[in-house]
Amino acid sequence: MDHLSLSPGGEQSLGQRSRNAVWHPCTRLRPDDDALPLAIVRGEGPWLFDADGRRYFDATSSWWVNLFGHANPRINAALAGQLETLGHVMLAGCTHAPAVELAERLSALSGGALGNVFYASDGASAVEIALKMSFHYWRNTGLPAKREFVCLRNGYHGETVGALAVTDVEIFRDAYDPLIRRAHVVMSPDARQAVGGESAADVAARALAELETLLRERAGQIAALIVEPLVQGAAGMAMHDPSYLDGARALCDRYRVHLIADEIAVGCGRTGTFFAWEQSRRTEAALPAHAWPDFLCLSKGISGGYLPLSLVLSRPEIQRAFIADELARSFLHSHSYTGNPLACRAALATLDLFEQDNVIEQNRERARWLAEAMAPLAADARLQHVRQRGLIWAADVRDDVASADFSARFHHAARARELLVRPIGNTLYVLPPYVFDAAQAHWLGQQLLATLDDVTTTSAEVRHAA
Ligand SMILES: Cc1ncc(COP(=O)(O)O)c(C=O)c1O
Repeated sequence: MDHLSLSPGGEQSLGQRSRNAVWHPCTRLRPDDDALPLAIVRGEGPWLFDADGRRYFDATSSWWVNLFGHANPRINAALAGQLETLGHVMLAGCTHAPAVELAERLSALSGGALGNVFYASDGASAVEIALKMSFHYWRNTGLPAKREFVCLRNGYHGETVGALAVTDVEIFRDAYDPLIRRAHVVMSPDARQAVGGESAADVAARALAELETLLRERAGQIAALIVEPLVQGAAGMAMHDPSYLDGARALCDRYRVHLIADEIAVGCGRTGTFFAWEQSRRTEAALPAHAWPDFLCLSKGISGGYLPLSLVLSRPEIQRAFIADELARSFLHSHSYTGNPLACRAALATLDLFEQDNVIEQNRERARWLAEAMAPLAADARLQHVRQRGLIWAADVRDDVASADFSARFHHAARARELLVRPIGNTLYVLPPYVFDAAQAHWLGQQLLATLDDVTTTSAEVRHAA
């Protein structure tokens, strides 16, 4: 029984009421399962607090969205100001300063290579918009046969029916397979696949060769390739060599296929640059316009983790193909809360923080603290494929150490140590908000190691008992 189930007065706890009233996402409903959701009452910086005043370090940034901590005073102030003026107005036929300013600033961050921001609310919708726009672009330019998509093995792009078509994660996709027009799935450049002394760049080259084989055969039918640049998050923080990105760009150019960068998880500074795509070439110089993807999807961190907001940036020539008198050539896509002023204001405050606090530079130091703090884990024989990209650290717990329900057990054991983490299968990872200091990074490493001890000791007992 969860410690929150009954209050001293005997009335139902928030967790109990939630279980009765709320259908929780990504959560199994099992007949004999009496576990309750953790009832959080407030947040402050990297910490979340439950009804009993216990605190938890939000080591995965609340599903990878929070950048500058909970209850950030500067984002709060920006939102309070926006609340005084405009909460919402539809974006069809109307506009407002936060939507315009945000679009202008994001375009500037790509050196003007991308723009024409199309707003939505969640990540999956942004992916669907990019897929639809790509298909529609080819139809408008006289190539209607280009209506297939390519995604990477174990890639994840959201769970609406359209986004599932380019998502190669069985547990999310397979139940809905009859509803889905499946995309082509090509080899992932995941560097863990290295064999016989291969480097990460060699694995990327192998993956590119497989992609080229497909494009050579079917480019006439293929609208776009979609990738999660540098880190495939839901695949278990699978990381790849940046050369894959430039190689994929070159192949898409050669075979006339669009490239969609899904930066929903990896954008907004998470991997060391504002856009992960900026690392596609090993150069400090700004990327030339032609080296950017055709579409770039953002969500999650763009609003600082405050409000649902997603958007698609695209190259100017994409929008030009939609300028026509015929209705059928128009992109008639919309969501009610598209470009919500509060969400855009939170995003502008987030961009202000990046600029005013020199966050990209500061995060280099945070990445070093994280690497140092995780050094004991990196040296631990129970873990393999230890990896880090910017402020994402991950490692795989060896199969002989992790039991079948490793993820759930680790999550619960970590909670007892004031840590909120959700391993993906056997992959242990942290992706903390950009507000921790060196001491907190050290504490985080220690708690993870202690939790690993808790869980693997129990595993041994269970194996012994069996
Ligand atoms: C790479 C990527 N794309 C798309 C999505 C879907 O975003 P949302 O959950 O907001 O629909 C996610 C969510 O984790 C993601 O990681």
